[in-house]
Amino acid sequence: MTTSRRTGEPSRSVSPAARLRGEPRLPGDKSISHRALLLAALAEGESLITGAGDGRDVAATAAIVAALGSRVERVREDGLNVDYRVVSPGADGLHEPDGVLDCRNSGTSLRLCSGVLASLPFFSVLDGDASLRSRPVARIIEPLRLMGAALYARRSDSLPPLVVIGRPRLRAIDFETRVPSAQVKSAILLAGLRAEGQTTVREAVATRDHTERMLRCRGVEVRREPATSSGGGPVAWTLEGGARLRPVDERVPADPSAAAFWLVAGAVHPDALLTLRSVGVNPTRRAAIDILVRMGAQIAEQAVGAARTDTGEPLADLTIRSSELHAIDLGPGDVAAAIDEIPILCLAATQARGRTTIRGAGELRNKESDRVAGIAAGLAALGARITVDGDDITIEGPSQLVGSQTKTLDDHRLAMTFAIAGLIASGSTSMDRAESAAVSYPSFFTELERLRA
Ligand code: S3P
Repeated sequence: MTTSRRTGEPSRSVSPAARLRGEPRLPGDKSISHRALLLAALAEGESLITGAGDGRDVAATAAIVAALGSRVERVREDGLNVDYRVVSPGADGLHEPDGVLDCRNSGTSLRLCSGVLASLPFFSVLDGDASLRSRPVARIIEPLRLMGAALYARRSDSLPPLVVIGRPRLRAIDFETRVPSAQVKSAILLAGLRAEGQTTVREAVATRDHTERMLRCRGVEVRREPATSSGGGPVAWTLEGGARLRPVDERVPADPSAAAFWLVAGAVHPDALLTLRSVGVNPTRRAAIDILVRMGAQIAEQAVGAARTDTGEPLADLTIRSSELHAIDLGPGDVAAAIDEIPILCLAATQARGRTTIRGAGELRNKESDRVAGIAAGLAALGARITVDGDDITIEGPSQLVGSQTKTLDDHRLAMTFAIAGLIASGSTSMDRAESAAVSYPSFFTELERLRA
C-alpha cells in the first residue's frame, strides 16, 4: 500500500504476474450474510452463522441488528470471514434504536433493513456514506408505503437518509417491481412476513432468490410461480403474513461475485491455474460463470458434497485455466443476472477476440458508483478500446493493456477489477482508494499477491 502524495489517500499498485497458481480464499457470500443476520434478528432464539463475509457492508448490517436489540457475538474471525452467534428476542422483542442506523456503503443493508423496519412499530433513520446518499430509495418507499408504513427521504423522497416509521400490522400487497432488483423484492417479502394476508412480488426477470430459499429453511412457506424454471424469465413469489421464523445454524457459501474476479484473472492470464472452493452456484447467481464459458473460458465445475448447504444453496468447486476468449453480445437480461460482475466481465472483454456489446447497462449507474462511467474511464486509461453510448457499452478486443493510474470512485468492484487488470498490463497499474475492496473482500490484495508467488 502506498499513499498518494496529492490526495493523502491510500492507493495500491499492481505489477504483472509471471504466473498465477493456487486457491484464493473467498469471503462468504455477501448477499447471504446480510440476510442471515437479519433473519436471525427476526427469529426468536439463537442462530449460528458460519463463514459470513467480514467485509464492511456485512459488518454494517451486524451493527444494525445489534442496535435493534439482538445480541450479536463474533465467535471466530480470520480477517476474511466471521462466525456470528445471534441471540434475538424475535421480531416482537426488537426495540427502537437509540441513534441513526449507519448502513455505511451498503445498499443491501439499506434496502433490506427498510423492509424489516417497515413492520416494526417504531421510528428509525437509515443513513450511510456519500455514495449511499446518492442511491435511489423511491423504489423501496413506494411498495412499503402501499403496505401502510410511513417512509420519508431527502430530495422529495428520492435519496437517503431514509426515515422509517413502521407499523406492526401491514397490508399485504401484490406488487410488480419496476426494475429487476432482489433488494426491492426482498424488502417487500420481509415486510410481508408481518402483513395481514398474502404478499406477492412479481418480477419481469428473475433476480437472486436467497431471501426466498432462506425463509423456507426457517419454516416459512414461500410459493414460486412458475414453480421451476432454468432462470431468466418472469416469476412471482408469494408468502402468507404471520409466519414465525425458527432460528437455524447455517454455513454461508463462498461468494460467486468475489469468485468472478479470479475466474477472469485465470481466463485472461497466459499462465494461470486457479481453484475456487465451495462457491455458491445458485442458478440466479451463476450468470457470470456461464457468460465466461460462452466466451470460451475453460472452467471445470465439480458439485460439492450433497451440492446443498443448509441455506438451500447449491455449491461447486471451480477450476479455471488460461483461455482463448472471444467476444459476446449481452442484453438487459444478462445485465440483470450478472449485475455485480459486469465490471470484471468488461475486463474479460478487453482480452476477447472481436467486438463485445453490453446493452441496457443503465442500472449499473445506481450502484456504489456510476459503474458504466467508472469502468469505461478506468479501462480506457489502461489502453482498452471501450466506448459508451447511452446505457450501452462496446469493447473491441483483444488489446494489450498498459499500466496506468485508475480511479476506483471508492467502489470495491472497480478497485478489484483494475487490480486484476494490473496482473496482465505491462508496467505498473495503480488505483486510488484501493482499500474500498474491504467493503466486500477484506483480504483481496493479500490473495492477489499470494497467487503470483
Ligand atoms: C443484492 C442485489 C443486487 C446487487 C447487490 C446485492 C442483494 O442489487 O447489486 O450487490 O443482496 O439482494 P439489486 O437487486 O438492487 O440490483
